[in-house]
Amino acid sequence: MSRPNPDAVKRIAVIGTGVIGGGWAAHFLRQGMQVAAWDPAPNAEARLRERIGAVWPKLAQLGLRPGASPDNLQFHSDLASAVAGAEFIQESVPERLPIKIETLKNIDAACPPDALIASSTSGYAMTEMAVQTRHPERCVVAHPFNPPYIMPLVEVVAGQKTSPTALQWAVDFYRATGKQPLKLNKEVPGFVADRIMEAVWREILHMLDHNMATVEEIEASVRYGPGLRWALMGPLTVLHLGGGEGGMAHLIHQFGPSLKAPWTFLEAPELTDELANTVIDGCRQLTAEKTLRELEDERDDLLIRLIELLDSSQLWHLGR
Ligand SMILES: NC(=O)c1ccc[n+]([C@@H]2O[C@H](COP(=O)([O-])OP(=O)(O)OC[C@H]3O[C@@H](n4cnc5c(N)ncnc54)[C@H](O)[C@@H]3O)[C@@H](O)[C@H]2O)c1
Repeated sequence: MSRPNPDAVKRIAVIGTGVIGGGWAAHFLRQGMQVAAWDPAPNAEARLRERIGAVWPKLAQLGLRPGASPDNLQFHSDLASAVAGAEFIQESVPERLPIKIETLKNIDAACPPDALIASSTSGYAMTEMAVQTRHPERCVVAHPFNPPYIMPLVEVVAGQKTSPTALQWAVDFYRATGKQPLKLNKEVPGFVADRIMEAVWREILHMLDHNMATVEEIEASVRYGPGLRWALMGPLTVLHLGGGEGGMAHLIHQFGPSLKAPWTFLEAPELTDELANTVIDGCRQLTAEKTLRELEDERDDLLIRLIELLDSSQLWHLGR
């Protein structure tokens, strides 16, 4: 196998150049890579070039790698020629299983034998998408967050037939491009972040549907509340600090019964001792390097700086 070192990749293909594919193209161009693109929409090339031009100042602000230029983008008239010379292919076609299956089959048939194929899918498993590929062992899910040229997280997930080597290579590749890859060992529908976001999204829809809160109230409740803290630390650490000196153990003791209160339309899990201990121990381990007081200090400091930063932006005052 002659896959290059993950930090030496030069030739990328981007298939599907909408919101996400276009964002990936920008990210890879910023790395100084050659990007071959294809999208069947009639105005796709013009739209993509316009978008890359529009975000280039942002990419420059983030830092351009040597050789980075919008001129390194080549738009192709068909999928096969776009992937023919690629070392790495990022698929970002519409979220419809038949389209994913067909596109991955076509990429796999036309790209070099060692090229790695990654799908931006928001929730399909590679096991169900790679069913018509000859080489499912080199296919991974790589789920980004919009915009992919700024947001660090990419969830990297293997299918049942993905080789561990390919999975690790993909993780190392994304890390080399400045991403924060999250290697997931289980092929869970929706992965991790989308399951969390989906729960919030469903609850928002339920509340609107039942006239429990307005759009403005829901926006304000997250923007000026939990959203700020989630920008600094994960939701579990936030709750851990919510338990005061007793941390997560105290929080579970206090709020455990509320799980069964009608606070949500989602069915609550049974709060067994095992589940409680998993959360409590996990929080202790997660924060072991610092005391709760140190974490609180850091949280408060960052929150103040973040609020100051947001306060200086018109976006923050929108609709207030
Ligand atoms: N939008 C998001 O916030 C987001 C975030 C993470 C992942 N994703 C995932 O990224 C993928 C793309 O989503 P998007 O938001 O960019 O959608 P989009 O509608 O903006 O773009 C899809 C692009 O695919 C093109 N296309 C249509 N049929 C095609 C085909 N057969 N072959 C190749 N290209 C085709 C379209 O012309 C369009 O440009 C989806 O799998 C989606 O779940 C989206």
